[in-house]
Parts: sequence; structure tokens; C-alpha cells
Amino acid sequence: MTSRFPEDFLWGGATAANQYEGGYLSGGKTLAVADVFTGGDVNTTRKISYITEDGEVGLADQYEGVPEGAKAHVIPDQYYPSHVATDFYNHWKEDIKLFAEMGLKAYRFSLNWTRVCPNGLKEVNEEGLQFYHDVIDELLKYDIEPVITLNHFDMPAHLADEYDGWASREVIDFFLFFSETVYTEFKDKVKYWMTFNEINILRGYSKLGLHSTDEQTLYQAKHHIFVASAKAVQLGKEINPDFEIGMMVCYLLNYPNDSKPENVLASLQYNRDLEFYMDVQVHGEYPHYKLKEFERKGIEIKMEDGDLDTLKAGTVDYIGFSYYMTSVSDVHSDEGYVRGNQLEVQQNPHLETSDWGWAIDPLGLRIALSKIYDRYRIPLFVVENGLGAYDEKDEDGNINDDYRISYLQKHIDAMGDAIELDGVELIGYTPWGHIDIVSAGTGEMEKRYGLIYVDLDNDGNGDMHREKKKSFGWYKKVIETNGEDLSNN
Ligand code: BG6
Repeated sequence: MTSRFPEDFLWGGATAANQYEGGYLSGGKTLAVADVFTGGDVNTTRKISYITEDGEVGLADQYEGVPEGAKAHVIPDQYYPSHVATDFYNHWKEDIKLFAEMGLKAYRFSLNWTRVCPNGLKEVNEEGLQFYHDVIDELLKYDIEPVITLNHFDMPAHLADEYDGWASREVIDFFLFFSETVYTEFKDKVKYWMTFNEINILRGYSKLGLHSTDEQTLYQAKHHIFVASAKAVQLGKEINPDFEIGMMVCYLLNYPNDSKPENVLASLQYNRDLEFYMDVQVHGEYPHYKLKEFERKGIEIKMEDGDLDTLKAGTVDYIGFSYYMTSVSDVHSDEGYVRGNQLEVQQNPHLETSDWGWAIDPLGLRIALSKIYDRYRIPLFVVENGLGAYDEKDEDGNINDDYRISYLQKHIDAMGDAIELDGVELIGYTPWGHIDIVSAGTGEMEKRYGLIYVDLDNDGNGDMHREKKKSFGWYKKVIETNGEDLSNN
């Protein structure tokens, strides 16, 4: 059987440190903003806990800022899922063995900034570096290619509270110190890197460490991130010219709800909001439509001499993106809004949804791949995709997650078509949370993406043991046949 996928296609899995690792204050790690995120469930919004200068404790919506002067604060007796998460910190050997058994060729994960550099400052915690050395060595032992995201929703609490996070230009240098440290340390072991996870949806105190939420502050912070990312690309290439360094967006493709030109325009504008991030990081410049928007809104980005040259010189090698759902634009209706992947979106009436209301749209992945490749012509990497679902055991104690297999099957098939029929250059696929981890959006455990089950519930009860779900064996076969046998039998 000939495969539609390239011979060296990176079949993998993906996780993020604050949703998987745990050990939040172990081995020299210090507090991150992610460590003051409360848990939640499908109906409740996650909160972040803080303490004000007057000693008052409060909870803020995860997408908002916290009051000026307030600091990240752990409330005793409050449950914080990141503190233990699904405990990769103590299970890494066992987990990597399972990844190898599944046949993974790549594993995308992020590093905890405050494990490597306490408080995000310019010092190195050798114990933290050693932990990642051990993890990477173990992956290499099984020929699993490490794919590292430098920053996945990770803000050192100290930098948020003392510097106002990415609102401050000084944070660029702290980030570069961290990047240089890990690049240098792992330069002979790791080839694939990504700078910032889902750069387009970062906002608020939780992701950016911001205390105010106005657009001026947000775009200034984003400018600092663009500069940090472009400098990190250049720095990486100096350290090892063979590095492949990519960017990462949350690709929330939007369609017009119908052929009314005003809906087509609204959808074009919606999509531009994410294309903006690729335009800057792939083309190396602020696009015309964004500059006009800044002008209209009176947003003025403070730049230093050389920033625009930096953006031009630090363009990325590939585009990594997450793909979970699509939405529609209908300017004539306020109906059908649901809470989607970090954002409120208008639901497509023609699509089925997950238990969390996320539209399931495999064909949309082929459309997404074509749209991105047509515009940028650099390799693409689907670094997140998957179905968050409630898993239940049958009477024999097995998890027969045929719904998850069906989801992955259709999305892999769509990728095959994008490669074979549309000529898209796709280098890999790392489905999200291939082992159960904490949900980023809701902070719960019961929204499971894994092909490997972890025994833990929304309140932190469970013995953490690992079990293979039915999808484990199915994905193993998919990898063995290089994506050609997608059947579920
Ligand atoms: C992406 C993030 O937004 O979607 C992940 O990069 C996240 O961190 C994933 O976990 C799925 O979202 P959720 O809210 O279901 O965990």
C-alpha cells in the first residue's frame, strides 16, 4: 500500500508542561501564573487567584487582568490542577515507555520556564535542566524526536507581578536568556522548536501577566512577544544552524454563514485576526490591514530602532497550528454563540459538536491546510488536534473510545487529502493530550483527549495509574502503516 504521507512524517503526541508535569514547586521550580489557576468544569469558568496590596484575596476571570498591584496568590484549601497535573514529573519514564510502545516518532512538549530559570530571571536551576535532559535522553533512547515549545501559556509569577508581564520590554531579555540556556543545553539533542503557543489567543493576566486589558496594552505586549520570538529564532540559528524553529497559532477557521457579502466580509476580517500573527512571523512585517486598524483605533505601538529589522530577520521555518473546530460569521444574528477554544464563537448549524460544544469539522482541516499553505508556502505542522470527551469504562474495565477514533480517523484522512490532492507540505501530526492531562480552558480532568487514560478526577482524586484506551492500539496501527490503514477493527 503506498502512503499519502511522506516517509519521514512525524507522527506524534503533544502536551504542555503546566497541564501535565506537576511538581509545581519541586526541584527548584518557582511559581508560575498557571499555578494560581483554579479547576473548573464544563459549566464554570476557570479563575485565577490573586492578593491585593491591602491583603485582600480575589478571583479573576482567566481572560481578564487582575487589579493593579495585585499578585499571584495560592489560596490554602483551593484546588489548583497544575500543582500535580497528571504527574509527568514522577511518571516520565513509564509514560515515555508507553509513547514508544504506541510507536510515536515525535513528542511535542513545553518546558516550564520557572523550572529552568527560577522566577523567570537570569539564573539557571541545574536541577530543572537535568530533569529535561533526562526526559529528552529517554525519548532519544526510543528514537522519539523531541519537539519543544519554548512557551506554552507560561508566565513566571514574578515577571507578571514585578514587571506587568509582557507589557514590559524587559521581559524580552528574560525570555531570551531562558531560550539561550535551553538551546545551548539541548543543541545536539533537539532539532524542532516552536516559540509561543497559540500566539493569537494570548491575553490577560493568565497568559501574558497583564494587569490591564485595554487593546493598547495588549498589542504592545504582543509586539514585545513578536520581537522576542524573532530574536529567539535568530539566536537559535546562531547556536545551531540546523534547528527548525516554528511559530504556532490556534487556527480557528471561520466561514461566512451564507453568501451574503456582508457575512463574507465579516468572515474575512475574523480570519485576518489570526492571519495577522502568521503575516508578522512568516513575512516579517506588520500587514497593511492591521496598521489601518491601529490607525482607526488610535493604537500606537512603541517600537525601538531596529525592531522592524528584527521581525524581518527572525522569520520562522514552519507554521505549527492547533486545529479543533471552526465557526461562522453572521452579522445579522446574535444567536448561536458558544464558548469554544478560548474564545466565544458562532456555531455552524451544519456541523455536529463535542460535549463541550466545539464543532467537529474534518474537512475544515483540509481547507485550513490549503489556505495556510497557499498564503505562506512554508512547511506546516499540525501540532494539536483531538477530541475532548467523557470516557467511561465498560463492565470489563476497558475504555472503548470509538468516538475519539472516529474523530482522529477523519482528521488524518483530511490531512492525507491535503497532501495528496492539494500538494500541501505537511511535516507532522501531534494529536493533543495523547495522554490525559488537565484541560487548559476549563481546568478539569474529565475533558479527556488521551489515548492513554490517567486515573484522576476533577477534584484531584485518583491514584494516577495509566491504562491504554482502545484508541491506543488503533493509533499504533495508523503509525505503523504510515497513515494508510485508518480502519477501526
Ligand atoms: C489549545 C491549547 O488551545 O487547546 C492547549 O494549546 C489546550 O493547551 C487545547 O489544552 C485544548 O483545549 P482545552 O480547553 O480543551 O484543554
